[in-house]
Amino acid sequence: MKKFLSLFAATLLFFAFSVHAQTIPIETKNNAIILHVNSDGYVSMVYFGKKLDDKNEYQLIPAAQNLDEGNLYSSAYTTAGTRNVLEPAIAVTQADGNKSLDLKFVNQSVTRLSDDVSQTSIHLKDPIYAVEVTLHYKVYAAEDVIEQWSEINNLEKKDITLNKYASANLYLQAKNFYLKQYHGEWAKEMRPEEEKLTHGIKTLDSKLGSRADLLQPPSFIVSIDKPANEDEGDVMIGNLEWSGNYRIDFEVDPTDNLRLIAGINNYASDYKLPSGAIFETPKLVYTLSHHGKGEASRNLQDWARKYQLIDGEGPRLTLLNNWESTFFSFDENKLAEILKDTKKLGVDLFLLDDGWFANKYPRNDDHAGLGDWQVNHAKLPNGVGNLVKEAEKNGVKFGIWVEPEMVNPKSELYENHPDWVVKQPKRGDYMMRNQLVLDLSNPKVQDFVFGVIDELFAKNPNLAYIKWDCNSVIYNAYSAYEKDQSNFYVDYVNGLYKVMDRMRQKYPKVPMMLCSGGGGRVDYGALHYFTEYWPSDNTEPRERVYIQWEYSYLYPALASSNHVTNWGKEPLKYRVDVAMMGKLGFDIVVGKLSPNDLLFSQQAVMNYKDFSEAIWHGNQYRLQSPWDNDVASIVYVDTLKSRAIVFNYLISQRFDAGSHSPVKLKGLDPAKQYAIKEINLYPGTKSGIKEGTFSGDFLMTIGINPEVHDDRASVVLSVEERK
Ligand code: DGJ
Repeated sequence: MKKFLSLFAATLLFFAFSVHAQTIPIETKNNAIILHVNSDGYVSMVYFGKKLDDKNEYQLIPAAQNLDEGNLYSSAYTTAGTRNVLEPAIAVTQADGNKSLDLKFVNQSVTRLSDDVSQTSIHLKDPIYAVEVTLHYKVYAAEDVIEQWSEINNLEKKDITLNKYASANLYLQAKNFYLKQYHGEWAKEMRPEEEKLTHGIKTLDSKLGSRADLLQPPSFIVSIDKPANEDEGDVMIGNLEWSGNYRIDFEVDPTDNLRLIAGINNYASDYKLPSGAIFETPKLVYTLSHHGKGEASRNLQDWARKYQLIDGEGPRLTLLNNWESTFFSFDENKLAEILKDTKKLGVDLFLLDDGWFANKYPRNDDHAGLGDWQVNHAKLPNGVGNLVKEAEKNGVKFGIWVEPEMVNPKSELYENHPDWVVKQPKRGDYMMRNQLVLDLSNPKVQDFVFGVIDELFAKNPNLAYIKWDCNSVIYNAYSAYEKDQSNFYVDYVNGLYKVMDRMRQKYPKVPMMLCSGGGGRVDYGALHYFTEYWPSDNTEPRERVYIQWEYSYLYPALASSNHVTNWGKEPLKYRVDVAMMGKLGFDIVVGKLSPNDLLFSQQAVMNYKDFSEAIWHGNQYRLQSPWDNDVASIVYVDTLKSRAIVFNYLISQRFDAGSHSPVKLKGLDPAKQYAIKEINLYPGTKSGIKEGTFSGDFLMTIGINPEVHDDRASVVLSVEERK
């Protein structure tokens, strides 16, 4: 009888997993991912590239590709502990201590979410252990963008441990792969490097916990076969939507193809998954273009505006910030003056930065007060509410800075809740900017952080903007709340997202800047809750051209908060022209501007508003890179191709550097006639270009010389359709 039962069970298993070989196409407007299920039930990714005209031919791909017999290299989600000995996407310690997982195809489903968006889900399951995985591919067809993630379901009776749990495991087939990645530090964000990938594994990762992108963001650009340029070449751009530790492996395998495994970093994070629980990984978002990095970046920018950013298709507020003009030293009178200046400048909003809070340990420098979010009575005796009213009287809006995830040991919050702080119980503190990180894995801390924002809005319903800062990484990772320290890094970020989710449910559209002591946390996970980000504290305008240029490969211009400050030696015009490349703001003492500087700034704000539709919602084309030209040029064309704005910046400091030949525009309608004019002229100066009317064809084939030279270091051109 026993023998019969086991034979019966074996037969059931056989039927459960004897599947028909099949191909599963996942198509966007121009591309297709082809998954293949072999007769053993193993799923592999046999193709990612241009889609075929005849869908029936997809099933011919596996045989034509001549992939490895057992589909190991090309596995759609490589498991650990069985016949696979490659870098896994998933590794599990079963409840009985066994270290193996085997995943076989069960079924697939396709859900149509809108005309543009659909989701393919591939359901896999281990034949022995009750562990199931679903691979999700969410397709944004028109944008050629895919978001991919996985769900791991523990149906065992006991807890299991996830030793690795990637979001996506991709397989790209080509002769060569070139990886463009970014590294950085404070004020040195987004420095690119590009290299040919060689055999073995190249890893991009972070172990910083919070502010995790400080040294390296979870972004990558992979050129396929040959290095892509702006308009030519096959290229994939990707970003992991996760604001904590991440790990992205690029492995050129023995068959010369590329295995790409991206997800949360499993460093110190063997995640305990309780019986019955589902672990959902963050999403990897990526796009593939066959027309270079330019098109690929526009795909992502379109997707971000439409689907990921808060109010990505809406307007943005120009602003005056007081950080660099006052630092911590201000009072009500000083702010009243700045509020008048905000109006005078013509921007929409005044943003009050750090230093407005804490009483027992006043926030007069960065050593104290963080965590105590009560208004400082000495500086602001009439409260924030009075400032909001003052702003309204001046016809401008009011915004405020917070850093609610952090705490100075010199604060009442720390005195009252030492157990809310991430720190080693038996070791000394180690701090970045004299502060520690609050333990967002703890629901009470989540309530506190949400409460900081909620109370600000409760007391000041007309508050129009928040700048959310985050200045420290996590040292000495230890949570007094977590039962299992291995869950901390993951739960921290999920705790942060829970707070953000609550905030956005209650305040869905309030503009908020994602700041992290510069660009320490710019990723699409966090940006799902924000309208814009702060690219860097480095606002020296030449530096800034490079920084903004590189961010533009990933993020749309309306999300890039660009402030005019006093960094560097460039004239105000240059600094303003550079800041206009994204979302314009100022952080200068308006009262100290010369009459001409003030007039110039006021006119520039008006020009910016006039062209904001093209900058915010149009198409961006990088024309000449700052890396290999004297002059960097970029154009934004509105969606009707009727207006455009071209920014040109002198980068080289060499003798006779300048624009010695025309810059070819892009994105215009060749058949339309366009009038070209120089705008943002400094008072008293005349245009240096040959203004006139040209066809789009002429402007894109021959171009226009912006006449950038050392005495005209930045030139802004307007392009207007003549009907
Ligand atoms: C770091 C930010 O990047 C700055 O813009 C400013 O807000 C300071 N923090 C305030 O402490």
